[in-house]
Amino acid sequence: MRITIDTDARTLAVEEDGAARTLDLWGKDAFELISDVWLRTSWNAKYPYTFTWLDRPIIQHPEDMVRTQEAICAVRPDVIVETGVAHGGSLVFSAGLMKAMGFGRLVVGVDIEIRPHNREAIEAHPLAPMIALIEGDSAAPEIVDAVRALIRPGERVMVILDSNHTRAHVARELEAYAPLVTPGSFIVATDGIMREVADAPRGKPEWVDDNPAAAAEEFAARRPDFALAPPAWRFNESALDRPITGWPSAWLRRVG
Ligand SMILES: C[S@@+](CC[C@H](N)C(=O)[O-])C[C@H]1O[C@@H](n2cnc3c(N)ncnc32)[C@H](O)[C@@H]1O
Repeated sequence: MRITIDTDARTLAVEEDGAARTLDLWGKDAFELISDVWLRTSWNAKYPYTFTWLDRPIIQHPEDMVRTQEAICAVRPDVIVETGVAHGGSLVFSAGLMKAMGFGRLVVGVDIEIRPHNREAIEAHPLAPMIALIEGDSAAPEIVDAVRALIRPGERVMVILDSNHTRAHVARELEAYAPLVTPGSFIVATDGIMREVADAPRGKPEWVDDNPAAAAEEFAARRPDFALAPPAWRFNESALDRPITGWPSAWLRRVG
């Protein structure tokens, strides 16, 4: 695809597959095209690796944080299960929202390796009383059992999968954690952007098929109890209607 931006003429010209079109630079279509390219370049530049949340590094794209915040406020979960802890920023993010909003009891973080300095910092964090850490492979049955044991009967549960992003691992996680998700809540297979950046310098060609979005789409296709749809926007005074996200085909809502 060739994109030519002319800020004087206020146009964005696109040539793709032998077809050419010219868009209003200030219109919705141009915004979405620019955003899609920006998303891919921002991923390659490791833009999501530049943020902290309440003092802990969080590895997320900012819009995904905001949309997750909206989903958490809409669902009001008692327990949020997150696979993939890293520095603990996403655990602190979820726990902080719950505490600020006056709902929620626990955030459970699962990671195959919780490095000592990260564990120490998470356990010393003011939100630590709301966080439980479990070390192990998130798809291992004994680890899933340990997570389940922390959930009390009747609690509303949301699950965010952000660990090993191979299609096979995410498929195993979806099978294992979906039963914990309560109706109306979500299980989120993050980082499907891998399929959009397979050709980027930091990408890998096999990501075209081997990615979390593929696992989520497959799961949704054979599970009538889950529907693939991002959380509804709770405020929108624009003409925009799709997220600028590193998590395409990620949000699986439990229906029925
Ligand atoms: C992208 S980071 C998580 C980022 C974190 N959720 C955040 O927002 O800051 C991925 C983490 O997944 C962990 N991981 C990789 N394979 C795993 C597995 N099989 N089970 C559990 N965790 C795994 C890695 O150790 C790493 O800490």
